Amino acid sequence: MLNRSDFLLRDDIVFLNHGSFGACPRPILDEQRRWIEQLEAQPVLYFRESIANLLHARNTLARYVGAEGKDLVYVTNSTFGVNVTAHALSMMLTEGDEICTTDHEYGACDRAWEQYCVAKGIRYVRAEIPMPVPSMDEMAEIIWSKVTPNTKVLFLSHITSPTGVRLPVEDLCARARAAGILSVIDGSHSPGHIPLDLSTLQADVYTANCHKWMCTPKGSAFLWVAPHLQDAIIPLVVSWGARNPVAGDGPLNIEHEFIGTRDYSPFLSVPFAIELMAQQPWDRAQQYGRGLAYVAHDMLVALPGVQPMHASGHDPLLQMATVILPSDVDTDHMKQWLYNERAIEVVVHRWLNVPILRCSAHLHTQQRDIDALEAAVREYLTGFSSRESS
Ligand SMILES: Cc1ncc(COP(=O)(O)O)c(C=O)c1O
Repeated sequence: MLNRSDFLLRDDIVFLNHGSFGACPRPILDEQRRWIEQLEAQPVLYFRESIANLLHARNTLARYVGAEGKDLVYVTNSTFGVNVTAHALSMMLTEGDEICTTDHEYGACDRAWEQYCVAKGIRYVRAEIPMPVPSMDEMAEIIWSKVTPNTKVLFLSHITSPTGVRLPVEDLCARARAAGILSVIDGSHSPGHIPLDLSTLQADVYTANCHKWMCTPKGSAFLWVAPHLQDAIIPLVVSWGARNPVAGDGPLNIEHEFIGTRDYSPFLSVPFAIELMAQQPWDRAQQYGRGLAYVAHDMLVALPGVQPMHASGHDPLLQMATVILPSDVDTDHMKQWLYNERAIEVVVHRWLNVPILRCSAHLHTQQRDIDALEAAVREYLTGFSSRESS
């Protein structure tokens, strides 16, 4: 299996934040470099051949996520995928329509919906999910209780960014489909992390990053759109599109793939990454990460004042462990202290006024990283409470 030495991560940093930007191992970076060098060796040939190469990359990724290549297009990141979708759907929605979402969404994507929709009188309604978060069934009920006859779109993260929580997306997509509501899923954390089968999910739009948990190069993500909606998902960047279609491509590929000259190497490296993942094999890699996340979770919640994020215990599917810190912790100070004094890179922040620590584990993570985190958090919190009581 790939291990720490296969990654370029600095040895002087305890790196426990895979979740934010991923980390790409050397063999995949070498593959990306090969594509970049091919581009620079003969740019015209590269772009001519990119039609077939992208088709292969698209079909390979589609197979991996249970989709068809014609329904999927590579994009640079999920923020881009959400922007395309929010912009296009804002053209379909009218004043008084509602988008139902949660108060645990990623800020940039939240803002995209607000920017495109709220200005047109479309309401953006956030279901409030308490912390510690309740069971999946209870979260589904909380979110669904915000659905009204005006709800036209349900927008949810599959796994939330600020709180590291898996939402009941499977259940809610099925409910939305039955109610005639479009579901748009931000799956930024899903591919390579949790099981993903778009053929059974019943989502209408799914956008996700490969560069997080599949460890592909930065800038490799996808936008998947159900066939019935593809004509409506107009591109954000207007390029040659239908004026210069590639035979066999669907409207999504035609309108969204070629958006001017750009480096396709992140996309073209995905098939190699999927092969490498199979060699690990990836379910073992995931088991390894989950095991460490589980250990981190249990070590952290044993510390004074630290609580689990999930009322019912750690989500057994995740390679991220999120815990709630004592309510008075100055999260900015703690984050800086962990980095400056203990060289630990980990998410510590306040969300909806709840202080949170989110620790990620992947193939480059080692037990000693988790031990270092536990020791540092213990030291910080002990100092913190003695400062408080003095
Ligand atoms: C839930 C969620 N959505 C969107 C994003 C944005 O990802 P990107 O910066 O690759 O667009 C993130 C990144 O952490 C995320 O966690």
